[in-house]
Amino acid sequence: MHDPFIKFKELFKQYNQFGKMAITTVGKNNKPTLRNIALKHYDENGFIFATKRNTIKVKNLSENPNIAALFDWFNKKHQVRIEGVAIEASEDEMRKNFASRPREKQIKAWAFNQFDKIEDIKELDEKILFFTNKFKDHDVIPYINYWAIYTIIPNYFEFWGRLDSGECKREHYSLKNNIWSLDIYYEK
Ligand SMILES: Cc1cc2nc3c(=O)[nH]c(=O)nc-3n(C[C@H](O)[C@H](O)[C@H](O)COP(=O)(O)O)c2cc1C
Repeated sequence: MHDPFIKFKELFKQYNQFGKMAITTVGKNNKPTLRNIALKHYDENGFIFATKRNTIKVKNLSENPNIAALFDWFNKKHQVRIEGVAIEASEDEMRKNFASRPREKQIKAWAFNQFDKIEDIKELDEKILFFTNKFKDHDVIPYINYWAIYTIIPNYFEFWGRLDSGECKREHYSLKNNIWSLDIYYEK
């Protein structure tokens, strides 16, 4: 059986030095937006990333869960493209995640939760100080819904590679009825 995750794992081990990927989302306005993001984890269930709630990607994904990701290893003669849907972690999972984060990060979540825009760099430390004092007698910082965690469940992979002989090879894996099919294209 064709398994794109096995191929991905081989390449990732060899080439991923940065732990990041680029993701594209498209909201109701049909306008694609692209940005880099840290890849937190991946396995055969999908590709996990975390972000703040007040970002465009979260708004887009609430309107349209379709997502595309790119691992750009071009200088090493490889790229991997992934398409699929992004599934948001449940509130229960987010509560556990919040509890597992260091205290300083939990305080930052409170400090920056209500602000889309902070225009004075000095305000960052002022807000952190305010919430550090507010919670100084709390052993446990209460939960706040600040982060979002998504798993990209892929239904398509493209592995592009330049061969030592100079030709290019594209391997397209598509998921249909839970089975991956593979099409290979060579280019010169
Ligand atoms: C290498 C790199 C890694 C990044 N990792 C994250 C990340 O893990 N989470 C995140 O929300 N933003 C991350 N960013 C910032 C995003 O690219 C982006 O600017 C921000 O999330 C706002 O995106 P938006 O278009 O959804 O509003 C990263 C940027 C770079 C350059």
